[in-house]
Amino acid sequence: VNGVWQDEGVASISVFDRGFLFADAVYEVAAVVGGKLIDYEAHARRLSRSLKELAIAEPMPAAELLELHRQAVSRNGLEEGLVYLQATRGAADRDFVIDPNAAPGLVLFTQAKTVLANPKAQTGLKVKCMPDRRWGRRDIKTVQLLYSSLAKSQAVREGLDDAILVEDGMVTEASSANLHIVDEEGVIHTPPLSEALLPGITRGSVLSIARDHAIPARESPISVEALGRAREAFITSATSFVLPVVEVDGRAVGDGRPGPITRRMRELYIASSL
Ligand code: PDD
Repeated sequence: VNGVWQDEGVASISVFDRGFLFADAVYEVAAVVGGKLIDYEAHARRLSRSLKELAIAEPMPAAELLELHRQAVSRNGLEEGLVYLQATRGAADRDFVIDPNAAPGLVLFTQAKTVLANPKAQTGLKVKCMPDRRWGRRDIKTVQLLYSSLAKSQAVREGLDDAILVEDGMVTEASSANLHIVDEEGVIHTPPLSEALLPGITRGSVLSIARDHAIPARESPISVEALGRAREAFITSATSFVLPVVEVDGRAVGDGRPGPITRRMRELYIASSL
């Protein structure tokens, strides 16, 4: 917390922190497998972009931030899981007008989690479509996650795994992952980057891996109907890597089992990151 290692039971920040009061903060989540950070450079670049978009100062030079991640992993003996980082505008008197003197804050912690042997990689995810009611700058990784959390919780209450968010009949992304489909011709599609969705780091890696292996992949809008017709569907995120989607709104995707292209992309992503 702001450069001091604290036990998780006592670690604390100001109640006046604008991250707490206004969600005036951005975050990153980078996976760790075998004690190694995955796609770290790309996460650090996206953090800088998020901060710049909101005019929050960089918490520290890039080399120090990487060192902090490495220290968190080694101090906590983390083998597999994630490093969570949150950079906030800092504490100031509660006021809608941003105080330019607020000193930016930084919180970082690790969380153990099974990434590689995720059973959902075998069984696949069941999802439902829900309206995308988040704010209009979803390309910035802010901590305004209330709607995403409500949507995913609703899906889980209904015995499902996740919510796919839909705006004007088009899929934006999953509650905390990017969505991809494989069409009848075997072409991977994922919605193009815009302010409507997060530029996922795993999404970017998967697209470049597909290019490298001559697997056809396109950034093109996905309608709810196209998702319903898809031969395969999968999501990507730092902590899920590539996970198959096997059911949408109660209807099987393809034959209702993880498809070959999805499996291949997961294997290739794992092989390229480790
Ligand atoms: N979520 N879209 C949203 C809305 C996300 O929250 C995330 C990541 C992604 C995937 O991005 P990436 O591949 O860079 O992880 C897409 C993280 C894992 C989280 O909030 O825990």
